Amino acid sequence: MRLLAFARPYRLLFVLGLVATLISSGLNLVFPALFGRLIDASFLRVGSQDTGPLDRTVLGLLGIFALSACFGAAQAYLLARVGAGVVADLRRALFGHLLTLSPRFFGDHKTGDLTSRLTSDVGTVQTVTSTALAQLAAQSVSLIGAVVLLILTSARLSLLTLAIIPLVIGTAIVIGRRIRRVSREVQDAVAGANASAEEAISGVRVVQSFTAEAQERGRYGQGVTRSFLAALRRAQLQALMSGTMSFLAFGSLALVLWYGGRQVMSGALTPGALVTFLFYAAQVAGTVAALTGVFNQFQEALGASGRIFELLDERSDLPQPATPAPLGRAEGRVAFRAVDFRYGGQPVLRGVNLDVPAGQVVALVGPSGAGKSTLVNLIPRFWDVTAGTLSIDGRDVRDYALADLRAQTGLVPQETLLFSGTVAENILYGRPDASAAEVEAAAQAANAHGFITALPEGYGTVVGERGVKLSGGQRQRVAIARAILKDPRILILDEATSALDNESEVLVQAALDRLMVGRTTFVIAHRLSTIRNAHRILVMDGGQIVADGTHEALLAAGGLYRDLYELQFRETESAPTPA
Ligand SMILES: Nc1ncnc2c1ncn2[C@@H]1O[C@H](COP(=O)(O)OP(=O)(O)OP(=O)(O)O)[C@@H](O)[C@H]1O
Ligand SMILES: [Mg+2]
Repeated sequence: MRLLAFARPYRLLFVLGLVATLISSGLNLVFPALFGRLIDASFLRVGSQDTGPLDRTVLGLLGIFALSACFGAAQAYLLARVGAGVVADLRRALFGHLLTLSPRFFGDHKTGDLTSRLTSDVGTVQTVTSTALAQLAAQSVSLIGAVVLLILTSARLSLLTLAIIPLVIGTAIVIGRRIRRVSREVQDAVAGANASAEEAISGVRVVQSFTAEAQERGRYGQGVTRSFLAALRRAQLQALMSGTMSFLAFGSLALVLWYGGRQVMSGALTPGALVTFLFYAAQVAGTVAALTGVFNQFQEALGASGRIFELLDERSDLPQPATPAPLGRAEGRVAFRAVDFRYGGQPVLRGVNLDVPAGQVVALVGPSGAGKSTLVNLIPRFWDVTAGTLSIDGRDVRDYALADLRAQTGLVPQETLLFSGTVAENILYGRPDASAAEVEAAAQAANAHGFITALPEGYGTVVGERGVKLSGGQRQRVAIARAILKDPRILILDEATSALDNESEVLVQAALDRLMVGRTTFVIAHRLSTIRNAHRILVMDGGQIVADGTHEALLAAGGLYRDLYELQFRETESAPTPA
């Protein structure tokens, strides 16, 4: 099992735990023999005054119980420690791995499902690596020891007892396989329910404003019902399994009692030996029953670990070069050569050819869905081109290490996202080692300093999950400050000023204009003021660049740009500044 690889760093602890297990289980094997002796030596000598053998045997028993309890406790602690360690490592590995995956992966998986794997599935595995593993070790020792001693006590009786073992194993395999399958269903259903809860909670304002509570309750309820039903089926199978097992175990005990009783009556066996044998047989039955419990847990864990390793096996679809080309401070030349792109089925970009010299400011305009965001998202390699090449400084972006490439690009996305934390922490995200003065300068440049200092705690104000405690325009300005602080060679602004009023927009625009100097910049914008300042305007439509030139040239040429201008830009240009 691949889980073992995760247990590796803990092998010393594990071995210690195992030794403790061996000792405590071994000690447990001694006591039936002592008990048998007790019977033959004391109880059968009715009327005898000599209580010495009884005292000694009982003292011995107490000693053995005490020792066994100590080692049992040591075993429980050590193995639990191993389990907790394995689980913590597994979580860290899983989360670290998740962060390497590409947007495509996250588009295909629901957040709730992924967090469910991190929590519920890993938790299920924890039971196995700690308690179940300890149980397995302890019970196996007891079982083997008990069987050996059983044979030594009475070979004939042993045959009777052991005849049931094939039956036990057969049952375990048949039912166990089904338990594993159902367990996987349980975990899938739990994850599904988590996913719908996650979505509804994070979008609770939309849910409430559309009074869709009943609908969401229904959706979540369905998921819960599904997991409930699957858990029920699993419980049925587990009950069937343990019922069958305990009947087999105790049924064989009854047989032993019957046959052994006859042997005692005929004098072939002493009563003490029969008692010893019964204890061992009961121990065998007990361990078999316990082992099936463990077996159930293992089947559950296998279902869960399947979901975990599935995730760990997921590879980013953005392969990294084995020997990446060095990229220190990039110049910032960007070139698209016959670039095609599709997210899945439909082509979104078709035959895009574009050369942007270092330091040029390029504005992208075009109708919604034309592919503007898609085009700029190719530059930091959130997606790879489907055909053609995209190069920076004359080299294919796929030749650079992803981290180097992204260090050179700054993106203010269409949907700004802040993290729960303070304003300052959010700005620092771009460059964690920046000083407070640099943070403030970046905020000044983004025209954010004013509103930040007016907040109750200034830069220390907590913005809430995803920045919900700020207005849309404030969020955008914090995001711009974050990008300014990062000081990238290639700057990408995807509608970065769309949530600002005209006045702030003018101020932010002035800051951005300063920021754009000497940097290759891609601006997706819908305001003429932004576009006018660009060196060059690209008009996109249906995944293609349909026109390329300056504002004046494009206006003179007519076509789509002229239409857009008439419809949109002129309006915003002449719109009165709100009071
Ligand atoms: N993650 C995605 N998976 C699948 N299709 C996508 C994805 N993102 C965008 N698309 C599709 O690609 C096309 C182009 O989208 P894109 O976001 O690039 O448009 P846009 O020009 O930026 O539009 P807007 O001005 O509205 O932001 C759209 O038809 C959209 O449906
Ligand atoms: Mg867009």
